[in-house]
Amino acid sequence: MSEERVVTVLVAVHTPEDEAAAVTALGAQSQVTVARRCAELTELLAAAEAGAGTAAVVSGDLPGLDRDAVARLRGAGLRVVAIEDPATPAERLAGLGCDVVVASGDTESLVAGVRGDAPEVAELTAGLPGPGAGPGMIIAVWGPAGSPGRTTTAIELAAALAGVGAQAARRSGLLRRHRPAPAAVAAGQVLLADADTYASSVTSRLGLLDDAPGLAAAARSAGQGALDVRTLARHSPMALPGVRVLTGITRASRWPELPATSLDVVFQRCRELAAWTVVDCGPVLEADELLMYDTRAPQRNGATLSALQAADIVVVVGGADPVGLQRLVRGLEDLRDASVPVPAARLVVVNRVRVSAVGRRADAQVRDALARYAGVEDVYLVPDDPAGLDAALLAGRVLAECAPGSPARAAFVGLADRVRELVPAVV
Ligand SMILES: Nc1ncnc2c1ncn2[C@@H]1O[C@H](COP(=O)(O)OP(=O)(O)O)[C@@H](O)[C@H]1O
Ligand SMILES: [Mg+2]
Repeated sequence: MSEERVVTVLVAVHTPEDEAAAVTALGAQSQVTVARRCAELTELLAAAEAGAGTAAVVSGDLPGLDRDAVARLRGAGLRVVAIEDPATPAERLAGLGCDVVVASGDTESLVAGVRGDAPEVAELTAGLPGPGAGPGMIIAVWGPAGSPGRTTTAIELAAALAGVGAQAARRSGLLRRHRPAPAAVAAGQVLLADADTYASSVTSRLGLLDDAPGLAAAARSAGQGALDVRTLARHSPMALPGVRVLTGITRASRWPELPATSLDVVFQRCRELAAWTVVDCGPVLEADELLMYDTRAPQRNGATLSALQAADIVVVVGGADPVGLQRLVRGLEDLRDASVPVPAARLVVVNRVRVSAVGRRADAQVRDALARYAGVEDVYLVPDDPAGLDAALLAGRVLAECAPGSPARAAFVGLADRVRELVPAVV
């Protein structure tokens, strides 16, 4: 008996000639069985998830084929071999996550691909611009529920990293939206991404127009395997000098527009566009376990989990009051037990530190509590500064622009220095 592994193939090829050629070539092989010829993607996914195959042959022009679909096929244990077509070149199919890409008519490579003998996409596309090579750093700003100041921290950290206010610069609302910008990584450039799928607020905090969520648009391009740095730059206009913004979804119900499979690529691309990408995350970390039986279900918290997984550093923000500190301690535990690996270092920030909510010697009280209950010795404190933050909120600006002397701003500038120490930017 042959030692060769049996391969069962599901074929979903749109163009009839390519389909016939693929099926004939595969059918002529020993140990290769064409288990199903699928007329459309939904049929292919159903067969794959029912365990009917070990490899899938798809064509680039198959309607609906996107990153999520390829991830589902791979998640069901299939090797995905894609046939190139003029509208969907190899680079794009590689961007969708296919294992192997072959030219139309090249049945020899197709068979080798199905058997696992062909070079995988990483090798095929070596030299082509691919995500993941960028030198930029990702900073995920996360914190438990209760508005401890995640968005404030993300915005002010982004502004401080970009040196906003270091030189006075005026903005206009129109410029903020339409200013064209170069698509190369610029030294010191910062990208601020709003990935909070529960209560996104970067758009209104910076007085931006909210008609076209930039992060969702970037995710859509990534889902189609078409997100290059130029496209990402188009979706992330300059909102402040040196700070691009990928705006968030305008309604919480639009969360399926931010699937993790696409955001994984978006965050990789961000590394190519900006020296630092600061991601404002939602508060909830659970994977939707009740829905796990249905691998088709998008994950409610996929955007946050994707950002945390991609991060080089996670800034964990908690509020400086008894409730906020207790949530922070539990939040740090939740982060440790998250359903995705979060290898990044944590930088714990306690925001709105004030005597009225924690008592005398507020700084020492907060440090003691975190050391005792969470074992965290290195805590970064941001003072309560209602005057400064309210002025910023009212004007739709950052502290550097409307309250440059604010004590909170000084703390966020110090936080940016700490971040630079922990993850030195390469560009
Ligand atoms: N250090 C601070 N001092 C005073 N007010 C603050 C401070 N940090 C945040 N705030 C205010 O607290 C509110 C909630 O902050 P926000 O950053 O939106 O929280 P989250 O994103 O965690 O929900 C906002 O109105 C903000 O202006
Ligand atoms: Mg927020």
